[in-house]
Amino acid sequence: VPLEETSLPLFFGWFLLPGIQDKVRCTSMDFLKTLDTLEAFKKHLPDFTVEAEKEVDLEQYFQANGALHCTTKFCDYGKAEGAKEYADKSAVKELYGSAFELSLSALFVTPRTVGARVSLSEDQLTLWPADAEKEAVPLVPAAATLPAGSRAHITLGCAEGVEAKQTGFDLLEILALQQEGQEGELVEEMELGSLAYYGKGRWLLSLREPVSAQACFSSLYG
Ligand code: A2P
Repeated sequence: VPLEETSLPLFFGWFLLPGIQDKVRCTSMDFLKTLDTLEAFKKHLPDFTVEAEKEVDLEQYFQANGALHCTTKFCDYGKAEGAKEYADKSAVKELYGSAFELSLSALFVTPRTVGARVSLSEDQLTLWPADAEKEAVPLVPAAATLPAGSRAHITLGCAEGVEAKQTGFDLLEILALQQEGQEGELVEEMELGSLAYYGKGRWLLSLREPVSAQACFSSLYG
């Protein structure tokens, strides 16, 4: 019996190849190391953490999780809504196991998560589930009006007790603010790009040079 008939995976997504995983992790670490030393970050620390701390070591604050990937469809072994329909899509079947170049266009940090925004190409959008942004509407109402692919991201770390799926919601919140015309408070031009503050402990670094990341479209059974 083929595996796909017995069960669906935990999720489908693009899995970064090992070399580029290291590069992305290093870039993220460098960013966190710099961010928590900035005066602007210290000034907004009360927005970042409710604890009455004077300093935060962001590298300790976030726990890294497994292999870096950009989830397309969370299937929960078939229990998630639309899992079977997604697995049956012709693009998913045709492109399963293929190599892609993902474009990482920004890094973001919130009191809950740290992640990278993935800007999907037209081809990559054929693998993006139609309901990915709508699923977030109960938590991020403005997600209803954001373009398909807005939620695409790589989770780089989560604060203690925070689930990985939060990263996509945090990204959507920032993009919703941008769409409303809030450009964020430009804080600093960093070597990696420009850093902006969006309130409530939300930081976005738009990369000067997007990071191109080789990735394989596949799935994880976990
Ligand atoms: P993300 O894609 O934001 O990193 P877990 O380890 O919690 O089982 O999750 C496995 C992967 O599936 C993670 O990458 C996670 O988040 C993603 N994920 C978990 N739950 C959901 C969900 N309800 N919707 C979308 N993605 C999810």
